[in-house]
Amino acid sequence: MAIPRFSSLLRFRKLAKSDWLVASIGFVLTVFFLSFFFDPTSDSTTLSVDRSLPISDLVKLKLSSKAKGRRAFCLDGSLPGYHFHEGSGSGSKSWLVHLEGGGWCNTIASCSARAMTKLGSSNYFEQEVAFQGVLSSDPSQNPEFFNWNKVAIRYCDGASFAGHPEAEFKNETRLFFRGQLIWEAIIDELLSMGMSDAKRAILTGCSAGGLATLIHCDYFRDHLPKDAAVKCVSDAGFFLNVPDVLGKPTMSSFYHDVVNLQGIGKSLDQKCVAKMEPSMCMFPHEFLKYIETPVFLVNPAYDLWQIQNVLVPISADPDKRWAKCRLNIKDCDAAQMKVLQGFRSSLMDAIGEFHQNKDGGMFIDSCYAHCQTVMTVTWHSPTSTRIENKTIAESVGDWYFNRNPVKLIDCPYPERRFLKLLNAVES
Ligand SMILES: *[C@@H]1O[C@H](CO)[C@@H](O)[C@H](O)[C@H]1NC(C)=O
Ligand SMILES: *[C@@H]1O[C@H](CO)[C@@H](O)[C@H](O)[C@H]1NC(C)=O
Repeated sequence: MAIPRFSSLLRFRKLAKSDWLVASIGFVLTVFFLSFFFDPTSDSTTLSVDRSLPISDLVKLKLSSKAKGRRAFCLDGSLPGYHFHEGSGSGSKSWLVHLEGGGWCNTIASCSARAMTKLGSSNYFEQEVAFQGVLSSDPSQNPEFFNWNKVAIRYCDGASFAGHPEAEFKNETRLFFRGQLIWEAIIDELLSMGMSDAKRAILTGCSAGGLATLIHCDYFRDHLPKDAAVKCVSDAGFFLNVPDVLGKPTMSSFYHDVVNLQGIGKSLDQKCVAKMEPSMCMFPHEFLKYIETPVFLVNPAYDLWQIQNVLVPISADPDKRWAKCRLNIKDCDAAQMKVLQGFRSSLMDAIGEFHQNKDGGMFIDSCYAHCQTVMTVTWHSPTSTRIENKTIAESVGDWYFNRNPVKLIDCPYPERRFLKLLNAVES
């Protein structure tokens, strides 16, 4: 009997120490996220300018030279663009193309409003943006891909680079729904800049750009040399078709409107579209199985954007019971935590089949986050989330370079660190 008691004492002391650590990391992250979400000029899905970074990390905007000829325009009719950082050394024939995110617009009114922002018009694009995380050229921040050619394509169509021109000019409004043409024009341009000789390539993107990564993954593969190693990494792009907390189909009716307004059906997976209503094929769960190119999913189990917009949109919380929990998982009560665990279970069910995909990879952590690949603090840093002691950067690298199969799923919040400690004590 003495041994278990000693063991539980040890457990208590270790937990106490770890609580302190967890609390301090939690504090840092809370401050970090608060500063993030309350800054109206930047959010986690769009590229930003951080003046505190070294000048070398700021990359200039280039408006597309092929867009005009292909009639590929942002919502307001301005030219789309991208930021390009040339690769060097062993990375000179390797290309990483990132698709910026930033939600979608589903009505004439919301698209018109968007056309007057940087998510709908290049007139408002920053002239330079910070290349961080998977876009960083610093080997200590981006050990696997630092010297690759890196491109960040700006998001200005409001439909995950997939809108089709036939749907234009409804209600005499001059809006251009040409996301698909933007995608094709800029890929063509990159091919003529040397990407047609690529030996290695990754298509990636976050949020609406993470969804676009999945939508366009096979197109990307098909336009690169046959012998190139081409793979796709979707960050926070696995949007779930779940009802909100009031039981209303908020997300599926939103996608229904986006798909119909912008005519996205033709850009979606045709095997999927043949089987169901096109807007259902915006949900990765429905078309992931048809993607032939290897795919890696980076997705938090409690994706912050999905909690705030899919599960608990403002419309589903009229009496503001969720106001605190929506912002910080530590402020959720037991009943709310149960709802969040249900959301996590829905994600687990939705990726169940993908688990059997031998070329696929995943990193499903338990952070309350959104877009973890484009910020160094979450991609690869001493404080970034780890599963099996690997950062997201190391996990994606292991998978891309075929060093190990990578199917990492963290335990549900908040048990993870306790389980780990218990195992350490027990063994
Ligand atoms: C076009 O205008 C009519 C009448 O104002 C409105 O009912 C309809 O929803 C509008 N269509 C779109 C796509 O906004
Ligand atoms: C985890 O990884 C870090 C850096 O990669 C290493 O220094 C540390 O020893 C590892 N910890 C464990 C428990 O393996």
